[in-house]
Order: sequence, then C-alpha cells, then structure tokens
Amino acid sequence: MSQRAQRILVVQGHPDPRPGRLCRALAEAYADAAREAGHQLRVVDVATLDFPLLRSKDEFEHGAVPDTLREAQEAIAWAGHLVIVYPLWLGDMPALLKGFLEQVFRPGFAVGAARGDDRAGGLLAGRSARVVVTMGMPAPVYRWFFGAHSLKSLTRNILRFSGIGPVRTSLFGMVEAGGAQRRARWLARMADLGRRAA
Ligand SMILES: Cc1cc2nc3c(=O)[nH]c(=O)nc-3n(C[C@H](O)[C@H](O)[C@H](O)COP(=O)(O)O)c2cc1C
Repeated sequence: MSQRAQRILVVQGHPDPRPGRLCRALAEAYADAAREAGHQLRVVDVATLDFPLLRSKDEFEHGAVPDTLREAQEAIAWAGHLVIVYPLWLGDMPALLKGFLEQVFRPGFAVGAARGDDRAGGLLAGRSARVVVTMGMPAPVYRWFFGAHSLKSLTRNILRFSGIGPVRTSLFGMVEAGGAQRRARWLARMADLGRRAA
C-alpha cells in the first residue's frame, strides 16, 4: 500500500436496516476495499440505534448524549475520515439520520461550547469526509436545478462548521432505473474510493 493507513468511520444513514438497499451495497464496497488496502474501519449503522429526538436548545447545549450514541460519538472522535451514506428522501437526508446528527454533533464535542468557551470553532478539525447520496432523480438535476441545498446544509452547516474538511461528495442518481452494469460501475467507484480512503 502506497499511502498511510487511515482510520475510517462509515456512517450508514439508511433508516432501513434490511440488506438489499443500494446504500448498504455502496458502503460495503467502500469498506471492504478499504480494509483490503490496510485501512482501519468502523461502521455506525444508524438504523440499528435506539435514541430519542433532541427536543430543546437546553438539552442540545447541556444535556447528556443518549447512552446508545456514546459509542458513535467516540467513533467519530477516533476517525480521521468520515463517510456518510444516505438516500435522498423528500429532498433531504432521512429524518432518522438528521436526528442522529442533532444528538451527536453537540457543543463541546463538535463545536466550541456556548458563550464563554474559549475553544473557538470546530472541534473536529483534522478530519476529512465524504458524503454519498443515492436518489431517484438524475444527479445533475439535484445538483444544478435544486442547488443540492440539503447536501450543502450537511457539508457546510454541520461538517465544515465542526472543523471537518475537505468534505467531498458522491451522488448516485436514477438509481431505481436499475441495470446490473450501472450498479457494478457504482460499486467499483466506491471500492476505488475505499482503497484510497478518499
Ligand atoms: C420516502 C422517500 C422519499 C424519497 N424522496 C426522493 C426525493 O425527494 N428525490 C429523489 O430523487 N428520490 C427520492 N426518493 C428515492 C430514493 O432516493 C431512492 O429510492 C434511494 O436513493 C434508493 O437507494 P436505496 O436502495 O439505498 O434505498 C425517495 C424515496 C423514499 C422511500
């Protein structure tokens, strides 16, 4: 292996825990190739976690992170590279993934805590990320006609705001149109990224 081994965390953001979803196949192709290339891998599967939704600013700033999410938070702290995979639902990430991020990306962990905290800015600096999104519409339509607004919200408001960068993106469009050859190309693309920890 020519490059330094990376610590990679794959966050599987598909709410359906059953196998067979494209998001799961893409994440597995990435993870398998990364492991084969000598990178260290951890996976957080949001669909299998039981946690409440965040309800207040007070809870966000001062409440404890649910016990069921502590390991996920620890995995983010451990990782040098995050890969977040999800399907586009109603133009955005699925609510379960958003609920997870609201619980985990807390002040004091992801960004400097409220007023009076002298640790300014993102606390997760030094990490890079890739966001992988599957969707029914053609990817260029989401990117150029809809302005990829929800993707920008994740990459800018959550990840870059926490100090994570660079943040790269992979969009897979018209996924329901099928075709074994297209699917094989997508998996190969993810495997290539996995090998490079990119
Ligand atoms: C609840 C729901 C909402 C969806 N909303 C959109 C959407 O807004 N735009 C879009 O292009 N595709 C939309 N889709 C299609 C999904 O993005 C597509 O089924 C998914 O990316 C396929 O990946 P998977 O096999 O991993 O589920 C939606 C699908 C579901 C189930």
